[in-house]
Amino acid sequence: MTGTLISTNDLSVHYPLRGKLFGPKLVVRAIESVTIDIQKGSFFGLVGESGSGKTTFGRALLRAAPITRGKATYSDGEVTYDLPSLKGDELKDYRKRAQLIFQDPYAALSPRMTVRDIIAEPLEVMGLTSSREETDERVRTIAAKCRINLEHLRRFPHAFSGGQRQRISIARALVSEPQFIVADESVAALDVSIQADVLNLLKSIQKDMGLTFLFISHDLSVVAHTCDHVAVMYLGRLVETAPTRELFAAPRHPYTKALLSAIPSLDPDDQGNAQKLEGEIPSPSNPPPGCKFNTRCPHAIDICRKEEPKLAKSGLEHDVACHRWQELTD
Ligand SMILES: Nc1ncnc2c1ncn2[C@@H]1O[C@H](COP(=O)(O)OP(=O)(O)O)[C@@H](O)[C@H]1O
Ligand SMILES: [Mg+2]
Repeated sequence: MTGTLISTNDLSVHYPLRGKLFGPKLVVRAIESVTIDIQKGSFFGLVGESGSGKTTFGRALLRAAPITRGKATYSDGEVTYDLPSLKGDELKDYRKRAQLIFQDPYAALSPRMTVRDIIAEPLEVMGLTSSREETDERVRTIAAKCRINLEHLRRFPHAFSGGQRQRISIARALVSEPQFIVADESVAALDVSIQADVLNLLKSIQKDMGLTFLFISHDLSVVAHTCDHVAVMYLGRLVETAPTRELFAAPRHPYTKALLSAIPSLDPDDQGNAQKLEGEIPSPSNPPPGCKFNTRCPHAIDICRKEEPKLAKSGLEHDVACHRWQELTD
């Protein structure tokens, strides 16, 4: 499969905040003017600290967060949808094509349903099968793909470990045969020892079924080993995107560099001048003028406090939003 599955242009998600009765009207700019292409069949990583807007962006693409302005298009070769205006039957159809894998496999699974019923529920809700036999067949097929023991379909989720539960969540997300998956911190709640298991499962399913993943993680070391492309988000903006290998070998944005230097094992030669990320991410309802990172950037100069840098080409597939990236790269 080739081509672009998801394409956004200046996509913004703003949440109006109801303040005090006569107070100023506050708006949370959770996502601001994000332009991105996600290629079909890619395992696309989205990284950034907590509060940078990753979940909101993923949810906007699933039509689960309100799109305030901008464009977002989904095109899988069979259908093309303008996401902000999607409604009715087309929106229903899109829900089958685009699915979320939750972060917390403990919270996501109803304790009173059997594993079979948990996995079957989307088929029933979306009316995708016409008989119980057909539903059972679909459930068994996807369970086997997700390496769930078919004997376990009759049991309840409490009987299972975190890794097994996450495989059940994954099967539930995949049973409608979606094309696009948003995996939001899908291994963050798991023990490190089983993270690799679940990641391998996601990768093999992705290849096997030809899926496209938006893989959201605050953990760059996880992204390094799984994703083919990475986008770095800060305060609702994209600050850098590149193929994974390129991003890790030649990061350009000071924020990306700071995130990378927080993973010592990835940067063995550079321990001496690792830049610690200090301070906190500003509030998206009161962002600083200029480059949003200027309040924490060791390289910020006047222009950085006045003008917001645009995401621009810095290489073949490498984009960065920094006034000074050229000076800082040698
Ligand atoms: N429904 C909402 N209403 C108001 N603010 C929200 C809402 N959802 C998210 N936010 C705010 O948007 C920002 C980005 O949040 P989020 O997308 O969850 O970031 P991340 O997933 O990167 O941690 C945060 O400041 C968060 O408080
Ligand atoms: Mg999140």
